[in-house]
Amino acid sequence: MKNNYIELTEKALFDFLPDLNCRESKLIESMKYSLEAGGKRVRPRLVFEFNALCGGNPEAAVPGACAVEMIHTYSLIHDDLPCMDDDDLRRGKPSNHKVFGEDIALLAGDALQTTAFEILSSDKAAELMGDKACRKSANALARYVGSTGMVGGQVIDLMSENTNAPIEVLQEMDYKKTACLIKAACELGCISAGASEAQLKAASDYAEKIGIAFQIQDDILDQTSSDEELGKPVGSDDENSKSTYVSLLGIDKCRQLVDELTQGAIDALDAFENNSDSLREFALELAKRKN
Ligand code: IPE
Ligand code: IPE
Ligand code: MG
Ligand code: MG
Ligand code: MG
Repeated sequence: MKNNYIELTEKALFDFLPDLNCRESKLIESMKYSLEAGGKRVRPRLVFEFNALCGGNPEAAVPGACAVEMIHTYSLIHDDLPCMDDDDLRRGKPSNHKVFGEDIALLAGDALQTTAFEILSSDKAAELMGDKACRKSANALARYVGSTGMVGGQVIDLMSENTNAPIEVLQEMDYKKTACLIKAACELGCISAGASEAQLKAASDYAEKIGIAFQIQDDILDQTSSDEELGKPVGSDDENSKSTYVSLLGIDKCRQLVDELTQGAIDALDAFENNSDSLREFALELAKRKN
């Protein structure tokens, strides 16, 4: 897999953006600014990995990969706003609202979200993966990122500030705010390859585990990394009195949980007949990530 998926995704991401030559060019610039700020592209990679594992054509993974990265980028722009986590640095650059203002940042997030669904319901996507897969992809993505998924998780995160939220609340929060979009990425990859229900279920199990591990690792790095290495402000969780796995259990226990969840994710790959080494390695890579 390696870097091929990044090239394919990045080229297509910008093809889907409207032309800058319009009255609202500031909005398009703002969308572009955050999309090209160079995140790790974890979610597009998962779409391509599961497409490949289920024997799909990589071209058919492109709409899903772009859609999940657009949703993710919107979520980060909104997450940094002063009314949310109030963070001024993202992907090593000033956060979107510091450059374009809160009003445009809010609207850029809105527009990235609708563009994701425009991509999944486009004629091009239908040509690449068929009408039924397009409908299933759009439906899955909407369910995973709406009020009962990512947005719901963000609300639990805000409501848990200044409380000592118990483990059940943290589990639900991390599942919804982070694992749900990761589940969408893995499932969209499967759907783009015409996967069976059993394959979808196994992908979903893998995704849920690496998704929760991903957020716990993010919370660990918030305490142990540096702004330079992370590309976003460390100590943000303490500053906002967030309830996290780290605030409840401490770093050592959290590292152990990341390892256990990663092993659980790797075990879920046994359900696939094809070679899943690449996804096994990716789970291990994510558990050891430094940014
Ligand atoms: C950050 O996600 C937000 C979380 C869900 C923890 P990433 O760590 O994938 O951010 P980028 O895309 O690499 O910037
Ligand atoms: C972010 O959690 C989850 C979403 C953006 C949906 P965080 O608030 O911990 O993410 P970072 O640390 O700002 O990237
Ligand atoms: Mg947050
Ligand atoms: Mg944040
Ligand atoms: Mg964080």
